Amino acid sequence: MAARILDGKSLAAQVRAGVKAEVARLSQRGIRPGLAVILAGDDAASRVYVRNKARACEETGVRSTVFEYPSTVKQSELLERVRALNADPAVHGILVQLPLPGQIDSEKILEAVSPAKDVDGFHPANLGALLAGRPRVVPCTPAGIMRLLSEAAVPLAGRSAVVLGRSNIVGKPLALLLLQRDATVTICHSKSKNIEMEAKQADILIAAVGRANLVTAAMVKPGACVIDVGVNRLSDAGANRLVGDVDFDAVKNVAGWITPVPGGVGPMTIAMLLENCVKAASL
Ligand code: GUN
Repeated sequence: MAARILDGKSLAAQVRAGVKAEVARLSQRGIRPGLAVILAGDDAASRVYVRNKARACEETGVRSTVFEYPSTVKQSELLERVRALNADPAVHGILVQLPLPGQIDSEKILEAVSPAKDVDGFHPANLGALLAGRPRVVPCTPAGIMRLLSEAAVPLAGRSAVVLGRSNIVGKPLALLLLQRDATVTICHSKSKNIEMEAKQADILIAAVGRANLVTAAMVKPGACVIDVGVNRLSDAGANRLVGDVDFDAVKNVAGWITPVPGGVGPMTIAMLLENCVKAASL
């Protein structure tokens, strides 16, 4: 039986409609939510992400400003900018696009963002709240995945969830959110042994590694829910194709649910960012 497709594009559109309505309500109180984005260096993917985020802000009525810096930017310049944005009452959310250039200590920059304006949920205080089981601002990609799972009523309690990838942005916070919903969670990473065997016993399998075709049909339990966080650009026959970490065409015949790439997790990440901005503005 073919898997049900978890349509992130359409769910994200619903979320954006809710954000738009909330922006209209806030405008009656004289508040216009404002997002400031810091983009440093010339990572091509980061530029695309930032452009998409700014476009989504525009569409929903959130004011967005992008502060661009060359790859030679100094730590002190970025810190100065973050401090100015922390103090600016028209800015409700601050997003530091990662990765930052190599000479920058990213942790120091993220720690400088006021936790109340940390719409990415990357500040240690917000990550700590998540760890303690009292989430405040939740990182956008994991939040978007949880929303997709809830919307499709994928059972989580007591089920086995296997997360491939242990990044601070996706793997670790997502594992905590799944744990909070009573899943039995395993995190696999580059040093893990028997990843195929771990994956095969998962009721919920999340691939957040960044390697095309990492998850094959042989690694998926029949009926499992497969969430693909990968964004891999393949250029074949001169064409530029976007694929995830999952061999979608083969896995969709084994899985019970599956997210496509594009149109699965990606649009949900941006929708959650908008929600986090509006929440920050309404506090
Ligand atoms: N780089 C890749 N994903 C993200 C994200 O969700 N937020 C930020 N700030 N940087 C990223």
